[in-house]
Amino acid sequence: MCGIVGYIGPKDVVPVLIEGLKKLEYRGYDSAGVAVAGPGCIRLCRVQGKVSALEEALRKSPIQGAYGLGHTRWATHGRPSETNAHPHVDCKGEIVVVHNGIIENYLALKSMLKAEGHVFRTETDTEVIAHLIEKHFRGSLEEAVRAALSTMEGAFAIGVFAVKDPGKIVAAKLGPPLVVGVGDGETIVSSDINAILAHTPRVAFLEDREMVVLDEAGPHFMDFQGKPIDKKIEQIQWNPLMIEKKGFKHFMLKEIFEQPQVIRDTLMGRLSLDQGEVLLDETGLPPAVFRDIRKAVIIACGTSSHAGFVGKYLLESLAGIPADVEYASEYRYRDFILEKDALVIIISQSGETADTLAALRAAKGRAAATLAITNAVSSSIAREAQGVLYTHAGPEIGVAATKTFTAQMTALALVALGIAQAKGAGRVQDRMAVIEELQRLPHKIEQILNRVGPIEELAKQFVAFFHFLYLGRWVNFPIALEGALKLKEISYIHAEAYAGGEMKHGPIALIDEKMPTMAIIPKDRVYEKMLSNIAEIKARSGFIIAVADENDAAIRDHVDVVIPIPPTHPLLTPFLSVVPLQLFAYYIAAKRGADIDQPRNLAKSVTVE
Ligand code: AGP
Repeated sequence: MCGIVGYIGPKDVVPVLIEGLKKLEYRGYDSAGVAVAGPGCIRLCRVQGKVSALEEALRKSPIQGAYGLGHTRWATHGRPSETNAHPHVDCKGEIVVVHNGIIENYLALKSMLKAEGHVFRTETDTEVIAHLIEKHFRGSLEEAVRAALSTMEGAFAIGVFAVKDPGKIVAAKLGPPLVVGVGDGETIVSSDINAILAHTPRVAFLEDREMVVLDEAGPHFMDFQGKPIDKKIEQIQWNPLMIEKKGFKHFMLKEIFEQPQVIRDTLMGRLSLDQGEVLLDETGLPPAVFRDIRKAVIIACGTSSHAGFVGKYLLESLAGIPADVEYASEYRYRDFILEKDALVIIISQSGETADTLAALRAAKGRAAATLAITNAVSSSIAREAQGVLYTHAGPEIGVAATKTFTAQMTALALVALGIAQAKGAGRVQDRMAVIEELQRLPHKIEQILNRVGPIEELAKQFVAFFHFLYLGRWVNFPIALEGALKLKEISYIHAEAYAGGEMKHGPIALIDEKMPTMAIIPKDRVYEKMLSNIAEIKARSGFIIAVADENDAAIRDHVDVVIPIPPTHPLLTPFLSVVPLQLFAYYIAAKRGADIDQPRNLAKSVTVE
């Protein structure tokens, strides 16, 4: 998964490309490069390492150009190296390409091109694209690109320009995202609007099998057959300031602290308090769908699947319907049985996760309806699902998802309440109790965020640990999963999560003084059961940290440390219990000097399989 940016306009192109790549670095950062159009030539600068290394290289050897392309890479084919860094060129160095995705038939194409005399310099699949365009080039770059695309299999978002057809950048999309910013006398193309907003809020999203030619007159949209397309130009409400750190040391910490506002924003306009009703018309799904479905199938990856898991409990308890949670990467390859009266709920903050998008495509047409819950306006998943309920979390730059997770749980609570309302399931006063408590959550999270000191102090004790166990039951089992993932992905400490009741079926063999336990133990229906689970751990000299109700004095006799959270509706405790776990992982990672916003080996949106 990588980041692409291209610019044509009056500004000095290299700084524009560098600033754009910095906004895209969360997408991949093992190598980076830029290419600009000089007089009858292409000027390149590529490095192994982050955009900061590229900036340093450009400081030492500046390059100038009239327009250009930039790329930050998350290696798929070919190890991270300067040679394999994008942009890549053809034999003569007259055609330059940047690429996000995977060309699945690149080896066959490479053999064919080599047999025709093309000379390759890298191990990448991307370089094949440059030589394919070279093979088909007869004067028109867009025609050569179209001919090349017709032979390629796989997923790609590409940017191209050529010495012999100057004054233009060609971009094309099949799979990974591409968005075009339409400014005054300038046009920018990028993998994400984050790189565009500093220049213009006016954007157009490329669909699969669409291309765009950028020149001084602006963007010219067409399909892969060259047929002009009249694209809708959208006005994005996010402003560049929302993307900055605002004084926080890391984007992740800023985003943890944004969670109260994210809940307010995601609830806004979707609750009719006087009627005690949830408003889901904006999803585009008819009310009959919510009334008539008899099951939900929730499909996602990673943190989004953990949110989906919380949604399962909400749907069962509030709407009275069964809900299965499926890993997209598994579901898409299974002979899954999907009932015609099932609602498929697809959760993805980026809206571009390849496995999740593929699972959506596999399920479409086989269920009553598909509903996307995503944070990315007009993303592939948003556009391909029949209905969409946007989370209003704003741009999330930290690779580790935090506020988008909370926003996803908020959206799922609305869906569960909406289905219950459409079905007349449960008692109105029970639904009202949840609706009223949902609106108190932001303040309760603020209470937790006002006392991060003890969590930061506690984290210091575990900086040198190598293993951690996370336990939760019922609606907090998914929070144990999420807490363990947070610790793993930003501090690189091994952490496992189990449903509390599972400990005695094997994992308790792990317990000793080197295997501390984080247990989520609010006063809910499984409180006593969790006490039993931690007693078994205590009896084996395990150190226990409990996330527990602040009014629960008794818990202190059972554990070593308590992280208190305000009491709330039993079904809504995940909104509160996850926050200390996010902070705990953050402070341990910070003490370990980890690269918190850009953890090794990870990417914000996994748009490759
Ligand atoms: C979250 O902290 C992880 N970075 C990762 O698990 C992520 O949730 C997963 O890749 C799904 O991404 P999506 O929500 O954009 O589909």
